[in-house]
Amino acid sequence: MKNFDIIFKNGKTVTENGVEECDIAIADGKICEIGKINAEATVIEDVSNLLVLPGGIDAHVHIDQPSGPDVEMADNFQSATKSAAAGGNTTVLPFAMQEKGQSLRECVENYHKKANGNLFVDTSFHLIISDPSPQVLGQELPALARDGYTSFKVFMTYDDLVLNDEELLKVFEVAKNEKTLVMVHAEGYDAIRFLTKKLEDEGKLAPYYHGLSRPQIVEREATHRAISHAQIVDIPIVIVHVSGEEALSQIKWAKDRGIKIFSETCPQYICLTEDDMKGLNMDFEGAKYVCSPPPRDLESQQAIWDGLIDGTFDIFSSDHCPFRFKDSKGKDRPGARTSFKWVPNGIPGVETRLPILFSEGVSKNKISLERFVELTSTNPAKMYGLYPQKGSIKVGSDADITIWDPNKRNKIQQTNLSHGSDYTPYEGLDITGWPIQTWLRGNKIYDQNKFIVNKNLGKYISRDFCML
Ligand code: URP
Ligand code: ZN
Ligand code: ZN
Repeated sequence: MKNFDIIFKNGKTVTENGVEECDIAIADGKICEIGKINAEATVIEDVSNLLVLPGGIDAHVHIDQPSGPDVEMADNFQSATKSAAAGGNTTVLPFAMQEKGQSLRECVENYHKKANGNLFVDTSFHLIISDPSPQVLGQELPALARDGYTSFKVFMTYDDLVLNDEELLKVFEVAKNEKTLVMVHAEGYDAIRFLTKKLEDEGKLAPYYHGLSRPQIVEREATHRAISHAQIVDIPIVIVHVSGEEALSQIKWAKDRGIKIFSETCPQYICLTEDDMKGLNMDFEGAKYVCSPPPRDLESQQAIWDGLIDGTFDIFSSDHCPFRFKDSKGKDRPGARTSFKWVPNGIPGVETRLPILFSEGVSKNKISLERFVELTSTNPAKMYGLYPQKGSIKVGSDADITIWDPNKRNKIQQTNLSHGSDYTPYEGLDITGWPIQTWLRGNKIYDQNKFIVNKNLGKYISRDFCML
């Protein structure tokens, strides 16, 4: 009789055949058999009445990135990946962010130093290109693409990161030659600067006005421009963190014309609105919700749901970008109370992404369990070259597994979270369906609010090309 390391017995899972009731056997960190399994194993886990899903892959997280003078992110690699594991994730894709004038190779080495030995879950870097010099475009980017850094993000806004149209086109051309995927932060820089100055001149300085400085039209214009540039070069791109109906209309416009565009949305665009940025009475509490693009209105939330339901969105990521609220190096940095433009942009979310989509989507019957798995694990794996090693319950894949209790009810509370931030923007949100165990390559790393393995078992993963 065969002898496995682990058998999960009597669970309900999602395989490529759909939802199945079956057993899953694991040996040497890989999935070996799926079906009715009569065999011995060192560990037999009875998962009756539970779900056995592929571990979540959060394809958009920011960890330990420099974020301006005297500003510090709330998470390092240790705390962010611990938080990811507690939230049912087994892989995260953070960014190695190039600073202006910096060699890309040196940038990547720095992020490896920060991550090395500090990973609770498997990890792979996207690159952020802020300085597309001839050296970067001609040598470093192609060499790094061949070394498994097969995706990079470009920004159409932010003083330190913005690329002009010619630079965007040049990066797109390298992506075409190297078959890599470009993620685009689509918000128009000049329009934001124009609106910011106007609001400041009118004395409109509270965090709430962050949203008015970057309305949907600014996102829509940049989304259309990015799509047009991608069409000129003839490459697929990913429009990340889509916030509402306007940008989504451009993605649909492109898809209707057969232009290959991928798109991502995030929990903040289904759970938060611009009113959250008002705080208690237009006060600084609103800074807790400042992120870009900003949360919109209820109509936009509905448009985002429609895109999640009808297949327009390919992936659902957190855009985890955590700052502490009561911290002079966080949201309350010098100047932040004098103008919204100094409030660091970003909110924590790597730990709450999966419970939010499960509860709001699956438990409330808006999306199927299969669609949930596709958006949060299988498609991120396929899009960013991790499939079939990751993203699926499949024979031969890594045994990255999250056990879910679909009936467990609890509110999201900062006191129960493992991230480095001192608040969650989702405080008090009712959740039905929680990830209760996280298994990384056959190792149980998290079980019912406890970390089982306090060694850092996460590995750096080199990636293949997009397969979507
Ligand atoms: O506000 C946000 N989203 N900050 C993170 C950086 C980015 O643009 O994704
Ligand atoms: Zn962005
Ligand atoms: Zn981001």
